Amino acid sequence: MTTGALVRLATGDDAEGVAAVRRVVYPYKAMSAAATRHMITVQSPGERFLPLVAERDGELIGWGSAGLNVWTSEPGQSELSIYVHPEHRKRGIGSALAERLHQHLTEVGALRVRTFVQPDGLEFARNLGYDGTRQMHYAGVELGSLPVQPETPDGIELVTFDTVDPRAAYTADTISSLDEPSDSPLDAVEYDQWLEEIWNSPAMDKSLSVAAMAGDEIASFTVVETDTDRMWSGMTGTVPAHRGRGLAKLVKSVALRRAAAAGITAAYTSNDDVNAPMLAINNWLGYRRVQTEHGLLRSL
Ligand SMILES: CC(C)(COP(=O)(O)OP(=O)(O)OC[C@H]1O[C@@H](n2cnc3c(N)ncnc32)[C@H](O)[C@@H]1OP(=O)(O)O)[C@@H](O)C(=O)NCCC(=O)NCCS
Repeated sequence: MTTGALVRLATGDDAEGVAAVRRVVYPYKAMSAAATRHMITVQSPGERFLPLVAERDGELIGWGSAGLNVWTSEPGQSELSIYVHPEHRKRGIGSALAERLHQHLTEVGALRVRTFVQPDGLEFARNLGYDGTRQMHYAGVELGSLPVQPETPDGIELVTFDTVDPRAAYTADTISSLDEPSDSPLDAVEYDQWLEEIWNSPAMDKSLSVAAMAGDEIASFTVVETDTDRMWSGMTGTVPAHRGRGLAKLVKSVALRRAAAAGITAAYTSNDDVNAPMLAINNWLGYRRVQTEHGLLRSL
């Protein structure tokens, strides 16, 4: 560890500083300070989440976190995230964070860790024993010129999330998430935990998130998270019986328009390289790729 830098447990009061470093490292991942505070402070005990920050001379310059993935039935799956402000790299801070986090994951029984890295972090991660070929594409669109909004099919009613029953949103989210490409299936999402971490997160803007209702059921939905004048798509999903009807295109078209009307100027999203339908929808909406991250795995 280099002199002058300190690694310590993160608290909710670090949210502003963490969000600021995140904005520099990941300008395409919109996440507000309020959402960051929620992420630091609200985690289910089963995750054994360890949030760390690195400081130098009182300035927050790095983040590291790790915890068990309790939303999959596969045992021992875990996730790790590390980022250091570009001006403070190559001084051992990332390595110090990685060492603490790997030690923690071993102690809490993790068997496999997943992480995502930008291309310039690939060597660092490979040196730590990470490997893999998954690719996650990040893309953004300016909201000034969207394609014409598709027609709403008969039997479908468009509503915003502030009028939606959270149980209906949970059902649509968990059913559609089963088909999102990943290394471990999202097949063990409990309602109470989902309510606390997703539905009650200040990240979710319920007045801009949109659902296509088929009666009492959500057929398709898209979640909008905002950070000042930028937005992030938390999740878009269509339940299997309603796929291929243009509903994901429709709800996202409506949500992006609502966001533009609310003063949001740019929208960002991430898609796995093998998620052909979602990539097609986002290309149609005008999203252009801004970064590709590598999804890597390591055994413990
Ligand atoms: C991705 C998903 C939301 C799409 O929902 P949908 O309502 O069926 O989507 P739409 O009908 O609006 O549009 C699908 C588009 O993808 C295209 N598409 C479908 N399968 C495709 C494939 N294999 N390759 C290329 N394009 C494909 C369709 O042709 C259509 O485009 P078009 O209207 O120009 O023809 C849905 O499949 C889903 O819920 N998947 C699981 C959850 C997920 O991965 N969400 C995204 C997380 S980033």
